[in-house]
Amino acid sequence: MATLVSKLSASASMPSSTSDAPVYNIPIPAFLATASGAATWTFTTAAIVLALLALEQSVYRRKKQHLPGDNWTIPIIGKFADSMKPTMEGYMKQWNSGALSAISVFNIFIVMASSNEFSRKILNSPNHAEPCLVHSAKQILLPENWVFLTGKTHVEYRRGLNLLFTRKALGSYFNTMDSITRQHLRQWLAQATADGKPQTIMMPVRDLNMVTSLRVFCGNHLPDQAAKEISEKYWDITLALELVNFPLAIPGTKVYRAVQARKVALTWLELAAFRSKEAMAAGKEAECMLDEWVKILADPSYKGRREFSDHEMAMVVFSFLFASQDAMSSGLIYGFQHLADHPEILAKIRKEQDKVRGGDRESPMTLEQLEEMPYLRAVVKESLRVMPPVTMVPYATTKAFPISDSYTVPAGSMVIPSFYNSLHDPEVYPDPDTLLPERWLDPNSSANTNPKNYLVFGSGPHKCIGLEYATMNIAVVLALASEMMDWEHVLTPESDKVQ
Ligand code: HEM
Repeated sequence: MATLVSKLSASASMPSSTSDAPVYNIPIPAFLATASGAATWTFTTAAIVLALLALEQSVYRRKKQHLPGDNWTIPIIGKFADSMKPTMEGYMKQWNSGALSAISVFNIFIVMASSNEFSRKILNSPNHAEPCLVHSAKQILLPENWVFLTGKTHVEYRRGLNLLFTRKALGSYFNTMDSITRQHLRQWLAQATADGKPQTIMMPVRDLNMVTSLRVFCGNHLPDQAAKEISEKYWDITLALELVNFPLAIPGTKVYRAVQARKVALTWLELAAFRSKEAMAAGKEAECMLDEWVKILADPSYKGRREFSDHEMAMVVFSFLFASQDAMSSGLIYGFQHLADHPEILAKIRKEQDKVRGGDRESPMTLEQLEEMPYLRAVVKESLRVMPPVTMVPYATTKAFPISDSYTVPAGSMVIPSFYNSLHDPEVYPDPDTLLPERWLDPNSSANTNPKNYLVFGSGPHKCIGLEYATMNIAVVLALASEMMDWEHVLTPESDKVQ
């Protein structure tokens, strides 16, 4: 929505004056001439404003056609007030109004898609629609970041990055995930014991996730101080990603602070890329994602582009942090919350742990062990389905998009596919709001036979590149927590609200 704010400033400028005043021959006293000039000016201005307002309504109605949605848009701001304080109930009302429905915010025409068919169509039509991040994203990630590539160049760049998430690469990240998780769970336990009262989970989970990501991506090429500094400053980046934010990076604004945080993070990440290249050139073992990448680039059988500067590598790592930090934290937090709310499910996870790990609680968990834990994997999949960290992703149409036989989304509109409805479709997931890991254990269940509904990680050319890593990491954290601690969910009035 910050994009919307910035576009307003471009479109709201009015003609400063027009001098179409009629010419009369009768001499008019000076004081009357001034009064009549002012009246003419007022009248002309009012006429222009009214014409613009009428034009605004007519453009909105022409774009909306028969779609559900208000017949008239609030002048200039549209549904801006709603977008300042979005609620799940508000979104549901909009989604329930039709498979496609229309709204306008600051004259940006927006089509919301709520059916699985239309949501998937948007995600899988790169010739008509592209992801459209909040305005501040380009300032924070830098415009040259690969995530802003589109079409063939995006596909090619991404093909190289996919190699960082192969089964072999993922297996090599396990030791790091395991040891950092254990370290953090021990700290949580010590803190809870010392305080003797319930602890809030959000910030500790964010911190666990950030440190895990940094070490999986950069290993020990990042000094401890760097990991700490990036983790602390990253909160400034999260704050600048709110839907509605002042768009300019001037001192004192959230976007400015986020840009400063990015500068610090990129400096450290560039150092890590440099050190990784040095270590691999010296023949050391690969210990993190950067090392895996450097090795792949040096492999004689590798066919893609081989030269990546430290800055480019740092930007890729930063894009992974950026894409994953909030979604992963949310996924982990709901994982803990669901298990606290369902002790019978937690008990089954523990039973499976005992079976597969044979009571060995000290050895690091392995990818092979995780593959033998269908119940744990089903819990993670189901937890993400019931409470998807990403409920929708905004796209923008690059040209007129004939989304159905009866409706074409105009070029330059926003189109927002909902994931929530696909993931809560009662035909595919009976009793959709209930956490039922068992629905994933039967290969013939409607959940398993309708994989196209599982939009937790999106679909199409921009589908989440880190999805295997994400589910694996959530599984490791929940498995270790189930072995190392007991926890309860202390309800507060805010507990069940979606923020
Ligand atoms: C539970 C955790 C996560 C969730 C729910 C999630 C969800 C998503 C979604 C919905 C998209 C957009 C898909 C689309 O437009 O079709 C996305 C894109 C992306 N995700 Fe994730 N993600 C998670 C974790 C991660 C992690 C851990 C990484 C990196 C290691 C990551 C990296 C990315 C990247 C780079 C993109 C953009 C891909 C592109 O444009 O080609 N995500 N993710």
